[in-house]
Amino acid sequence: MQITAVLGASYGDEGKGKVVHSLAKLDTFTHVIRFNGSGNAGHTIYHNGKKYATHLVPAGVFYGKPSIIGSGCVLNPNKLIEEIEVLEAAGVPVRPWLKIAYNAHIITDDHLKIDNQDVSIGTTKQGNGPAYADKYLRKGIRAEKIKELESFIVDLYDEFYIKNTTAHILAEGAQGYLLDIDSKNYPFVTSSHCGIGSLLNNGFRHQDLKEIICVIKGYDTYVGAKNFQSPSDHMLDRICEYGQEYGVTTGRRRQVNYLNISELNKSLKMLGCTQLIVNKMDILKDLDCWKVLMNNEVVDLHTEDRFKAKILEVAGCPVKFSYSPYDI
Ligand code: IMP
Ligand code: MG
Repeated sequence: MQITAVLGASYGDEGKGKVVHSLAKLDTFTHVIRFNGSGNAGHTIYHNGKKYATHLVPAGVFYGKPSIIGSGCVLNPNKLIEEIEVLEAAGVPVRPWLKIAYNAHIITDDHLKIDNQDVSIGTTKQGNGPAYADKYLRKGIRAEKIKELESFIVDLYDEFYIKNTTAHILAEGAQGYLLDIDSKNYPFVTSSHCGIGSLLNNGFRHQDLKEIICVIKGYDTYVGAKNFQSPSDHMLDRICEYGQEYGVTTGRRRQVNYLNISELNKSLKMLGCTQLIVNKMDILKDLDCWKVLMNNEVVDLHTEDRFKAKILEVAGCPVKFSYSPYDI
């Protein structure tokens, strides 16, 4: 059994969905799993020329591969059923492939009510935080208790350590390292862990980890209540417009800043990155903007080559630069 993880090294919205979708078609991968977060996530996926937005359903369904919602996730059954129906109506069979860990937790109407009152964090209002809170208070409800989910329920130990012991799982992270609950950005974070430990806690052994692919964009974006974008720098607004930086789940405008090289250095190191994918290079190329942040100062690297060289230097591993929303 082997696992390849795809993790966000920034504030989410790095384009992990696209990366996972393009890897999931490879014969190498037999299963796809989501291991953290909930419907707060939004993945934009282009499949056979059509655009899809997924929130909870792992990208394996696009290729008829078993797709698992792991125990580290929390899920709203109504929203999940809605997502399944939308995908199936668009011609993507989901029900034959979807599996849910019996010990994933449920987002209830009460969780939604509480999250809808949030103003200070700027959550996605999907009930994510309150569901994790109840899980850790040990008064949560597990997926195995929900009648409508019965047919999807599995035990990941049985799936991968008894039945499919030669599986190669593609693990699809949600959010990113800088939104991890223990990040220094607390409280402006999500309520789950977004690193590799989070994946292992779904019931996997560290020996089974094969590769850790980290994903970023050529610039940073953040959506939430804190100030992130300098209001006087109009280039950042142009990046936002060219990059169409609006949330998949909430439609909110994302705040934009130049790629923070100092933070990237730390994220990649702590995620154990073995391969880096840099998305949305086309946006920077269109604007001919090659600025980064280093030690909180804007530094203009002037050329695409120098920009790429800086990222390669920090990554210390193979790096792919992507100039297209459709492939890596
Ligand atoms: P929550 O996860 O809905 O509680 O939101 C907490 C913070 O994480 C807010 O700043 C959200 O905008 C952010 N967040 C949650 N999910 C995503 C995501 O998939 N992409 C980007 N930001 C996210
Ligand atoms: Mg997203």
